[in-house]
This record gives sequence, C-alpha cells and structure tokens, in this order.
Amino acid sequence: MRAESFRKHFPIFSDSVHLCSCSEGALSDRVMVAMNEFMTSWRTQGAPWEAWMEEVDHARQQFAQLIHAEAKDVAVVSCASEGAFHVAGDLRFDNQRAVILTNDMEFPSIAHVWLASRERGSTVQFVPQQDGWVRTEDYLNLITDRVALVSVPLVSYANGFRFPVAEIAAKAHAHGARVVVDAYQGSGVVPINVNNLGCDYLISGALKYLLGAPGMAFLWVRPGLERGPNPALTGWFARTNPFAFTPRVLDYAGDARRFQTGTPSIPAAYAAAAGLSLINETDATEVFQHVSGLAERLQNAVLDLGYRLYSPTAPEHRGPQVSLWVDDAERLSHFLQERSILVSPRGQAVRLSLHYYNNEDDVAQVVEALKDYQSQQPGR
Ligand SMILES: Cc1ncc(COP(=O)(O)O)c(C=O)c1O
Repeated sequence: MRAESFRKHFPIFSDSVHLCSCSEGALSDRVMVAMNEFMTSWRTQGAPWEAWMEEVDHARQQFAQLIHAEAKDVAVVSCASEGAFHVAGDLRFDNQRAVILTNDMEFPSIAHVWLASRERGSTVQFVPQQDGWVRTEDYLNLITDRVALVSVPLVSYANGFRFPVAEIAAKAHAHGARVVVDAYQGSGVVPINVNNLGCDYLISGALKYLLGAPGMAFLWVRPGLERGPNPALTGWFARTNPFAFTPRVLDYAGDARRFQTGTPSIPAAYAAAAGLSLINETDATEVFQHVSGLAERLQNAVLDLGYRLYSPTAPEHRGPQVSLWVDDAERLSHFLQERSILVSPRGQAVRLSLHYYNNEDDVAQVVEALKDYQSQQPGR
C-alpha cells in the first residue's frame, strides 16, 4: 500500500495533524471496525473465548510477520516491562558474569526492570548520554566478558536517536553476552528483521507505531537460545495446553509462550491485529524512506527557524522523530494543540513524530505554526 492510500485509513487527518505516534498511533478505520467486532461478539455470543483466542494468535502472527520471525517464537505479554522482566529472569547471574549494560536513553520502565534484577545478583551499568547522543564507542568499550546482557533500544523514546544495534550486538555476542532490543519506538516505521539484527530478545508494544491500542506487547525470543530458569511470573497461558485445567501440573510451553501469564487483553488483541495488518500491507523500506524524508525536511525547516534540536541530525542515527529543545515544552505543545497539531512533550523536549500516514502538508503546517509561536515570544 502506498502512503496516500495508507493515510486514507486514518480519519483524524480530516481535522488534525497527528504528529504524536511516539506516544500513541493514530486510530484507523480498520481498528475501529475490529473493536466493534469485539463488542458485537461479546454482546451476541456471551463468552466467545475460542474466537477471542484466535484474535490473540492473529496479533502474534502479524507481529511475527513484521519482524520476519515465526509466531511460535513470540510471547504475547501485557506491556514491555513484563517482557523485560522475563528477559532478566531468563538469565543466571554469577561472579563471572553479572553485568546488565544499558544506557541513559533507555525507556525508564525497562531500565527499572534491570535495576530491580540487582536483587538477583546483577550489576547495572549505564552508557552515558550527552545532548541526546550515546556514542557507539562508549557502548562497545563497556562490553566485556563480565556482561550478561546488553540492552539496546532500536530507537530512543527521548528524541528518536537510532542505535547501531547490529554492531553492538556483534560485539556483545563475541563476549558471550545476550542482547535485548526494545523496539517500541521503531517497530512499524524502522524495518526489522530479527535474522539480521543479531539480538536474542526483541520487545515491542502495540500502541505506538504499530497502531494498536494500549494493553498488549510482544516478546520475541531467538529460537534455539539456551533456556534459563523457568519463568517465576507465570499463569495458565504459559502452559503446554492452557485449556487442560490441571492445577497440579506446571508444564511450561516449549516455545516462547512459556513467557506468557494470564488472560491477555482481548480488546487490545483486536486492535493490535488490525493495526499490524495495515502495516504488513506496506513495504517496510518504502515506509522508512518516506518517514526519513519527512524527518529530514522537518528537521531542516525547524533549524532554519532557529529552534534548538534535541534529535540527532546525522542520518544514520535519525529516527522517526524530530525533537525540539525548548524553554516550555508544555506551552508550545498546547499552542500547537490549539491549532489541531498533536505532538508529544517530554520534559524540555517537544517530540514531533512521523509515520507513513504523515505527508509534506503536515510538515508545512507544523512549521508554519512554529513560526507563529516564535513571533509571539516576548523579545522578538
Ligand atoms: C521505548 C519504550 N519502551 C517501553 C515503553 C512502555 O513500556 P510499558 O509497555 O512497560 O509501559 C515505551 C513507552 O511507553 C517506550 O517508548
């Protein structure tokens, strides 16, 4: 599907400019239909668990397709933190190998899970960031034989900084460490092929660039990876056969489903499957080129206006986000919102994020509004 056809699936563009996919993707007609299907099935069939479970598997399959994986290697979890918890739990920390290497631009809840694993004997090391930039050499230099896990996001939530995952993963593996990628801020717009990325685990959630609703995330586990301790957080959906109803038997599934727990969010499954199905009808390379082209155009325009950028300008690190460093991010976001331009403030940054549904017109509109904002600032 080409960009113009893709955009037509998102009614919000009839009255607004949606630039906040880093926070929540736009609602598509397909997701609305799917959510209605869920409600109709509930109203008319009472408890159609079989159909609902099929929808969960549908979401799993769609995610697997997106990352070039097999559905059996994907666990459906409730949020990215839960996926990270399972990754930490899959490791054994000892005197020789106990370090989890992460960075200052990791999403907090993922970093918090790493910090919490110190109770089980890990040591957490942070690669520093400076002005929204994490140096690859700093990551590589900290990878030693003492590292158990290297955690590297595909794209940082803070400013769209894109990490050289394959390079970092190669060094990690050379030192016997495992690699986890939080792809939440990239999946859907940055092409992912887990067969080339070099990671052992990949986590993402359905609600941002994957265009689903809150309530569902995915954990991909590399097939053949040596199994760690049995998951401590568990439930009936981690069983070989969840519907066997055998409370005395704890038989973990042989595949990634061993990392599942209890009843998944069914409404979120309907939304995730529908959102992902739209993305899987696009060409990943074309989506990335489209988004990168818009990001470059927007970045250059805001630089011309004299705004300070928090996102990287180097194309190899630029992601789907242009982030402005401003005095009052809430105020600027509010100003834009009053003009129906929807963005996402975080601290002192205003994040303008781009998806395949955005176009040059959206960029022109936000640039015009940013110019107006400047002209209204005292002292100009
Ligand atoms: C990179 C990244 N990881 C994870 C999350 C969310 O984690 P969780 O699903 O645990 O709330 C977000 C944003 O909400 C994010 O931007």
